[in-house]
Amino acid sequence: MKIESDRDLQGILRIGQICGLTLQHMLKHVQEGITTRELDAIGKAFLQQHNAQSAPITAYNFPGWTCISVNEAIAHGIPSDYQIKAGDVVNIDVSAVLEGYWGDTGATVLVPPFKPLYKRLCDATKEALHAGIRAAVAGAHIYEVSRAIEGVARKNRYNLLRQLTGHGVGRHIHEEPTIPNFFNRAHKDILEEGMVVTIEPFFNLGRGHIRTAKDGWTLYTPDRSISAQYEHTIIVHGDKPIIATQVEGGH
Ligand code: CO
Ligand code: CO
Repeated sequence: MKIESDRDLQGILRIGQICGLTLQHMLKHVQEGITTRELDAIGKAFLQQHNAQSAPITAYNFPGWTCISVNEAIAHGIPSDYQIKAGDVVNIDVSAVLEGYWGDTGATVLVPPFKPLYKRLCDATKEALHAGIRAAVAGAHIYEVSRAIEGVARKNRYNLLRQLTGHGVGRHIHEEPTIPNFFNRAHKDILEEGMVVTIEPFFNLGRGHIRTAKDGWTLYTPDRSISAQYEHTIIVHGDKPIIATQVEGGH
C-alpha cells in the first residue's frame, strides 16, 4: 500500500510497533526446554493484549499465531511440541493485523552455546537488512535494494534463498511489489514516497535450495543447512525510510 492519510500512517506505525514488541517479547523467552508451541502462545497472548490478530491465521488459516522455524526450517514453521535445545537456530516471524492495517517483522536468534559460524551468518543477514533499508529511498529502483542486499551476501560468501523476497504490505500481508534479495535489472519498478514494503534477506550456509515439508507449510533446506532471516516493515520516506517495526533493543 501507499500511505495516503495521517490515519494510514498512524495505522501502519501502530501495527508495526505491536509486531516489533511481540517479536521482542517472544525472543526473550527463547531458551532450552521451551516448546515452539509455548513460544507461540506467548506471542498470541501479547498480540491479543494489543487487540491484534495473527496475519498468517487471518490470511492463510495457518496453524499457529506466528511462524517459528528451527535449524533446517527456514520459514513458515508450525508451532509444535518440539523443545528448543542448546545450539538451535530459531527464526520467529510475527505478522499481524489491527483495524485493517498489516505489519510484518522477523528475526533469527541462537541458543547458547552456538557455533560462531552461525553468529557470523546472523550478523551478515542483519547487516544486509539495514543495507537494503538504506537503499530504499524514494525514487530508487527496486533492484537497488536487491543489489545492496546481494552485495553483503557476496562479500561474506553466503548463498541467498532466492525464492524468498520482501514484499508490499499494509492492506494485506502480501502485496505488490516483490522485493528480491538478488540483483536483476528487470526489477526496475520505482519505490515511491509513502510505499509500505518489507525488506527481508534470507542468507544460507548451504546450496540455497528450498523445499516444502509434508506438513504443507514449513520451508526447509534439503541439505539441512542453516539460514538466517531478518525482516522489517518500512515506509519509503525521502532519503531515509521509516522503520515501522523497529523497537528499542530490537534488530
Ligand atoms: Co515475515
Ligand atoms: Co514478510
